Amino acid sequence: MTQTTTRFPDGFLWGASTAAHQIEGNNVNSDWWRKEHDPAARIQEPSLDACDSYHRWEQDMDLLARLGFTDYRFSVEWARIEPVPGTFSRAEIAHYRRMVEGAQARGLRPMVTLHHFTVPRWFEDLGGWTADGAVELFARYVEGCAPVIAEGVRHVCTINEPNMIAVMAGAARAGDQGFPPAGLPTPDEETTHAVIAAHRAAVEAVRAINSDIQVGWTIANQVYQALPGADEIAAAYRHPREDVFIEAARGDDWIGVQSYTRTEIGAEGPIPAPPDAERTLTQWEYYPAAVGHALRHTAEVIGPDMPLIVTENGIATDDDTRRVDYYTGALSEVASALEDGLNVHGYLAWSALDNYEWGSYKPTFGLIAVDPVTFERTAKPSAVWLGGLGRSRRLPRVTE
Ligand code: NOJ
Repeated sequence: MTQTTTRFPDGFLWGASTAAHQIEGNNVNSDWWRKEHDPAARIQEPSLDACDSYHRWEQDMDLLARLGFTDYRFSVEWARIEPVPGTFSRAEIAHYRRMVEGAQARGLRPMVTLHHFTVPRWFEDLGGWTADGAVELFARYVEGCAPVIAEGVRHVCTINEPNMIAVMAGAARAGDQGFPPAGLPTPDEETTHAVIAAHRAAVEAVRAINSDIQVGWTIANQVYQALPGADEIAAAYRHPREDVFIEAARGDDWIGVQSYTRTEIGAEGPIPAPPDAERTLTQWEYYPAAVGHALRHTAEVIGPDMPLIVTENGIATDDDTRRVDYYTGALSEVASALEDGLNVHGYLAWSALDNYEWGSYKPTFGLIAVDPVTFERTAKPSAVWLGGLGRSRRLPRVTE
């Protein structure tokens, strides 16, 4: 095995990603906070203070910049910005504006996600995404974010993983029978249409705020791989869970590609990974090549001209040497995609911090560890290594 390197293209984004609910703490006005405290929802543990990044975002950014990253993706929280319908909190808007300016001051280009899984309680009470007027309500919120994003923000993501929102809604409608042993529940069609409409409205709203902003959305890619003879079955399975959302990005300025593992599909549908496969703390198969497949599939569906940005990629592990190994394999895939002419514009790792993984703090995805009592941050060796690649502007490329 030999290791060579590939130079980053000019302007390549090099960063790490987070989401408000997973790191800020005390997001009390959100649907997730309510769910975390509802015994019927059977959430393993509540988010509580999370990483206290609401107060410690400067430390997070200082560390990322010092490590060598040039980009930081974070989300703003609808439940804070619009705590009651139609009333926007000036203080919260000013808070997120300070974050944008704080990132810039440290040499980090901010990528701002407007919606990352959580909604205000009042929006859920109205019926959520499929309620009458939901699209207009989301668009009004996006307009309300103008002071945060109007200046100095090059990339805005409207909605993170809309396909997972539709999948979760599908699971809920089916009576929350949980996730199947492999693959994902069937997405709820009505939710699919609603989030696509919300995205289109949000793209317009963002462009009206500043037409220089590059706007897109970020899609969860499960890397469905057909076993021999199962091509059509895999395509039919993938279409409502992925491709519909990739196709809906037509007309956007970029598309976010998010992948972690793969799912093999046989004649009967998705197949669990073999018992001897290495698994991560989320129980997903260890499969660093996922990002390469995800990039290639996305380009195939949307066409070669659409800029692709890896907006999430990483591994939940408590063995940081496996994290470096995972990223080495993943980056080699990104390098090979670039060499093959794919229009890849950036790579943002998931995640900057060990954070709240939607129900539990156990799956640690972070490049930076966070002490749950003192909130002290400690960069892991993987963070030093990955950040350092930002300085050298070179991606490792492993060849046989
Ligand atoms: C996708 C989601 O956007 C993020 O919130 C989550 O923590 C990671 N994947 C890992 O599951």
